[in-house]
Amino acid sequence: MSKNLNRVKTQAEIEAMREGGKMLATVLQFVKSKTKAGMTTKDLANLAAGKLKELGGEPAFLGYRGYPDVICIAINEEVQHTIPSDRTIKEGDIVNCDFGVLWKGLITDAAITYPVGDISDEAQNLLAGTEAALEAAIKTVKHGVRVKEVSKVIEKTLKNYGLDIVRELCGHGVGHSLHEDPDIPNFGADGSSFKLKAGMTIAIEPIAVAGVADIEFLPDGWNIVTKDGSWACQFEHSLLVTYEGCEVLTS
Ligand code: MF3
Ligand code: CO
Repeated sequence: MSKNLNRVKTQAEIEAMREGGKMLATVLQFVKSKTKAGMTTKDLANLAAGKLKELGGEPAFLGYRGYPDVICIAINEEVQHTIPSDRTIKEGDIVNCDFGVLWKGLITDAAITYPVGDISDEAQNLLAGTEAALEAAIKTVKHGVRVKEVSKVIEKTLKNYGLDIVRELCGHGVGHSLHEDPDIPNFGADGSSFKLKAGMTIAIEPIAVAGVADIEFLPDGWNIVTKDGSWACQFEHSLLVTYEGCEVLTS
């Protein structure tokens, strides 16, 4: 996926990513707070676009490899990269919003998944486990740590919650491009020995399924769904690697 070199960012670049990351978090929380049963995912995309414009940032996904919208919004069995549409959100659904901001030439990338009204215990466990995997990864990231150590922590956490891992998708370096080196897989089996360096910026994004993580790429070239209809979840943050650990740029 990622072919663009991950250069250690300058102080000015890091500051731009802090600012853009704050805008990104603000937009995601705004969209979440406005989400109600009966709205379409396109309604939510319009809210995201409007809020980002008001804050002064530019959408990083629009036009990326031809992606036609500012945000990806996946519901329930939709896994990722779903183009906003007239699909209506229902009570009991889970909504995954993945958003990117371009600010002063730098990109940040983050995602949340949240319930609409009451959801099943299984869905609650899916959300809790995927978020816990991201938190565990954040605690692991530090200058000198190898990518496979981060991958292993994500895998272990997801397995502890009984979740299956979507192996076709992964985290990545981020900043000058949406996808920079290194890839950051969500499982560690034969993981990369790439060493993280202070000043690098990365996006970590565990993607898990409550059932079997067998996925199908739909003909629109973007949307991905689970084959058996089981629900999927993703959480993502952009991080700055430091000597002490990391700084979350998108909260
Ligand atoms: N966080 C997603 C990823 O890294 C963002 C995809 S944006 C899209 O894959 F434009 F490619 F859909
Ligand atoms: Co990403």
